[in-house]
Amino acid sequence: MTSGDAGAAADPALAGAAADPAPAGVAAGLAPAGVAADLAPAGVAEPAPGPAAVVSLEAFIRAWTTLAAPPLIPEITLYLSHEEPTVLWEHTERETGRADLPPPFWAYPWAGGIALARYLLDQPGQVAGQTVLDLASGSGLVAIVAARLGAAEVTASDIDPVATTAIGLNAEVNGAALTVCTADLLATGHVSHSDLLSHTGLVLVGDAFYERRMAHHALGFLRRMREAGARVLIGDPGRAYLPPGLTALASYAVPAWAGLEDTEIKPTTVWELP
Ligand SMILES: C[S@@+](CC[C@H](N)C(=O)[O-])C[C@H]1O[C@@H](n2cnc3c(N)ncnc32)[C@H](O)[C@@H]1O
Repeated sequence: MTSGDAGAAADPALAGAAADPAPAGVAAGLAPAGVAADLAPAGVAEPAPGPAAVVSLEAFIRAWTTLAAPPLIPEITLYLSHEEPTVLWEHTERETGRADLPPPFWAYPWAGGIALARYLLDQPGQVAGQTVLDLASGSGLVAIVAARLGAAEVTASDIDPVATTAIGLNAEVNGAALTVCTADLLATGHVSHSDLLSHTGLVLVGDAFYERRMAHHALGFLRRMREAGARVLIGDPGRAYLPPGLTALASYAVPAWAGLEDTEIKPTTVWELP
C-alpha cells in the first residue's frame, strides 16, 4: 500500500493540503500503519499471517460492496461500499494478494462525479451522439450515464485495476456499452492516445483535482483535448487543485456518502474548460 502521491506529500508547498476539501481518504493519508492499529484489538497478539486465499478482483468487488444508487442519481445502481476507505484498502490488498493498489476510490460515489452525472441526466442533449472520454472514471458513474444517454462511443479511463474491473461490472448492471481504458493517459510522454485526441468530442472529469501532481497532468491533458476541439466538462466540489478560470454551468447540493467527506452536503459545481 502506498500513498496516492508520495512526491506531492513530501512537498512543503502542500503543507495545507490536508485542510483542503480533499476526499476523506486522501486527507487522512490512508496510512497503513493506522489501519493495522485500528484492526488489531488492544492487547491481543495478532496471529502470524498464514497463506491467504487470493480472490479475483471481480469476486472481491462483489463480496465487499452492495448494489446501491448514488445520492441524486436514482437512475443508476453501482457496486458501492459503506466500509471506511482505509479498511477497504487494507482488505483489497490482503484478499487480492496485491500490494501496489491505490486507494479504493472506485467503491464510492464522489461529489464531482455525482454533480456531473446529474447535469448530463438533466440535459441529455449535451451527450447524445458524442464520442465521450470519462477521465478518472472511478466507479464509472459518469461514463455509464453518458452511455445510457445515447453517446455514440464511451471510453472510461482509470489507472486502478480494481476500478477498471468495477467499471465493467457497473456497466453490465446498468446495461451500458463502454470501453475501459487502463493506460495512464496523463503519463508524460504517453503517445498512444492520438486517436482520443482526434475523435473525442466530449471529455468528462469527475472529482480529479484532489492531488497536485495529478491535477497538473490532468489540466495539461484537458487543455490538449480542448485545443483539439473537444468540449471539457468538470464536476468538482472545490478540491484543493481545481484550476482557476473555469466557467460555471450548474451547481448542486450533493449529499455526501457516509463517512466520505467532512460535511453532510457538498456544494458542487459543473464547470466547462473555456
Ligand atoms: C476521487 S476518484 C473520482 C472517480 C469518479 N470520477 C467520480 O467522480 O466518482 C478519482 C479517480 O481518479 C483515478 N486516477 C488517478 N490517477 C489517474 C490517471 N492518471 N488516469 C486516470 N485515472 C486516474 C483514481 O484511480 C480514482 O478512481
